[in-house]
Amino acid sequence: MQPTNTPTITLFDTTLRDGEQSPGASLTSAEKLEVARQLARLEVDVIEAGFPAASPDDLEAVRRIAQTVGTADGPIIAGLARAMPGDIDAAWEGVRHARRSRIHTFLATSPLHMERKLGLRPDQVVERAAAAVRQAATYCDDIEFSAEDATRSDPGFLVEVIAAAIEAGATTINIPDTVGYALPAEYAALILRLRTETPGANAVVWSVHCHDDLGLATANTLAGLEAGARQAEVTINGLGERAGNASLEEVVMALHTRRSETTCRTRVDTRQLTRTSRMVSHYTGMVVAPNKAIVGDNAFAHEAGIHQHGMLRDRRTYEIMTPTDVGADGTRLVLGKHSGKAALRQRLEQLECPVTEEELVSLFERFKQLAERQKQVTDRDLRALVDHESEVHDGRYSLVDLQVSCGRPGLSTATVRLADRNGEERVAASVADGPVHAAFRAIDSLLQTSSTLVEYNVHGVSSGHDALGEVTVRLAPAGDSSAAYGGYGADIDIITASAQAYLAAQNRLVEANGNEGSAAAWLDRPDSPRPESEVYR
Ligand code: KIV
Ligand code: ZN
Repeated sequence: MQPTNTPTITLFDTTLRDGEQSPGASLTSAEKLEVARQLARLEVDVIEAGFPAASPDDLEAVRRIAQTVGTADGPIIAGLARAMPGDIDAAWEGVRHARRSRIHTFLATSPLHMERKLGLRPDQVVERAAAAVRQAATYCDDIEFSAEDATRSDPGFLVEVIAAAIEAGATTINIPDTVGYALPAEYAALILRLRTETPGANAVVWSVHCHDDLGLATANTLAGLEAGARQAEVTINGLGERAGNASLEEVVMALHTRRSETTCRTRVDTRQLTRTSRMVSHYTGMVVAPNKAIVGDNAFAHEAGIHQHGMLRDRRTYEIMTPTDVGADGTRLVLGKHSGKAALRQRLEQLECPVTEEELVSLFERFKQLAERQKQVTDRDLRALVDHESEVHDGRYSLVDLQVSCGRPGLSTATVRLADRNGEERVAASVADGPVHAAFRAIDSLLQTSSTLVEYNVHGVSSGHDALGEVTVRLAPAGDSSAAYGGYGADIDIITASAQAYLAAQNRLVEANGNEGSAAAWLDRPDSPRPESEVYR
C-alpha cells in the first residue's frame, strides 16, 4: 500500500500549446475551448492554453479559456512567452482573467541553442532570463521558467541560470528534454543534481517536460518524478512537436496502476481519459494508433485464443487495469483466426444465439475457415454462420462437395456430392448456362424432386473482398404455387452458399411431402444416382 502522505504532483497539460504545435494539429478557437473544458473535467491542475504572442487569434483563444475555464475551482491557466518583453505582456493579457493565472517564460541554455539560435553569450542568457521573470513578476506571482534544451546544457551553467530565475521570482522551474535526447537514469540524475546544487531550490516546484524522439518521454517523466520533480508537463495522446510529448494518459495510469511502487500520485479523474483522448483526436485529426497504450482501440482487445481463454476465467490474467478505470467501452474479445472455442461460445451467448456442444464443434470449424480469410469475424458473420448451421443440422441431406467450372463462352458444369443422415453419399453432375443453375440441377437430380425456384437473393454480410455471402431461396413444389419453402446458406463462396440454401429449401420440401427421413434415405429412391455416378440433364 502507498503511504497516506504520498505527494500529489501538479499535472500540467500542454496539449493546447506544445501539442497544438504538432504539424497538422491546429485547432479552432471554439475547439480549443471545448478541449480546455474537457481538461477541466479530467481535473488537470494547469492548462497551458497557448502562446499568446504568436498571433491575435492565439491571444484571443487563451483569453476565452482563461475567462471560461479558469474559474475559482478550475485549473490554473498558463500562457507561454519567450523571454521577451512583448511576449510577456501578451501572455499576461491572455491569462489575466483566470482566477489563477501563470506566466510561463523560457530561454534556451544549451551551447548549441545559445550560439546558433539566439546569438547570445551565456552571461547575456542569465541576464535575459532574470529580466523576463522579473517582468512577469510585476503581473502575477505564479511564474514558471523553462531552460530550453536543458538536457544538452552544461549542468553547472543550468545551476547559474536557474538560480538567477529563482532570485527574480520564478516559482516553478521546468527542465525540458526539448529534443527527447535523455535516458531515464541520466535525466533523473540531472533533476537530482539541480535540486541539490541550485540556491533556492527548495522554494520552487521542479518540473519535467519530456519529448519522445527516442520513445522515452514517459519513462523519463517518471524518472524525473522519482528524482523529486513535482510537476509533469504532458499532452493528451502524446501530441507534440516531432515525435510528441510525454502522454498524459500514460504518465497518469503508470502512477495509478503502480501506486505501491511509485512515490507520487495525480488528482486526475482517470475515467475521463478515453473521452478526452477521443475529443483531441477528433478535433486535431491526429488518429490514435490502435496499439497506443491506454487509449488505443486495441488497448483492451484480446484475440489470441490462449489470452481469450485466460480472460474468460479471470480478466487479471491479461489486463493490468480495467477499461472502466480509463472510461473505455469495455474489454473486447476480438474474434479472429487466433480465437479459441471458449471465446466463440462466449460471444454466441452474448449474442443470444444458443448452440449445442455438437453444433459448436462444426460452427467452430466454419468460423476458423472464415477467420483465415477475413481479418475479423463480425457479429453479423457469426449470426449468419449460426443460421446456416441450424439449416445444415436440421436437414435430411447435407452438402459434402461442390465443384464448378464456368466461364465465357461455354456452359457451366457443377458436380455435387450429398450425404444423407446415415452418412451415405451420392454424386451427380449437371450442365447449365450458369454455375448456380448447374449446382441446383445437380441437387435436383440427386433428390428427384420437382420444384420451381420462386425467389433467389444474394448479398454480402460485411464489407471487403473476402466478405461472407448470404443466400436465401424460396421453392414452390411443382404445380402448387400456394406453398413455398425457404432455405438459407452463408459462405465466402456464393455458389457454395447458393447450393446450401437450395438444399435447405429442398430438405423442407422433401419433409413436407411426407417423405419422413428414414434410416436409409437414398434406398427409398432406387432410381437416384449411385455413388460416383454421373447424370447429365
Ligand atoms: O520542449 C521545450 O523545450 C518546450 C519549452 C517551451 C518548455 O516546449
Ligand atoms: Zn516542449
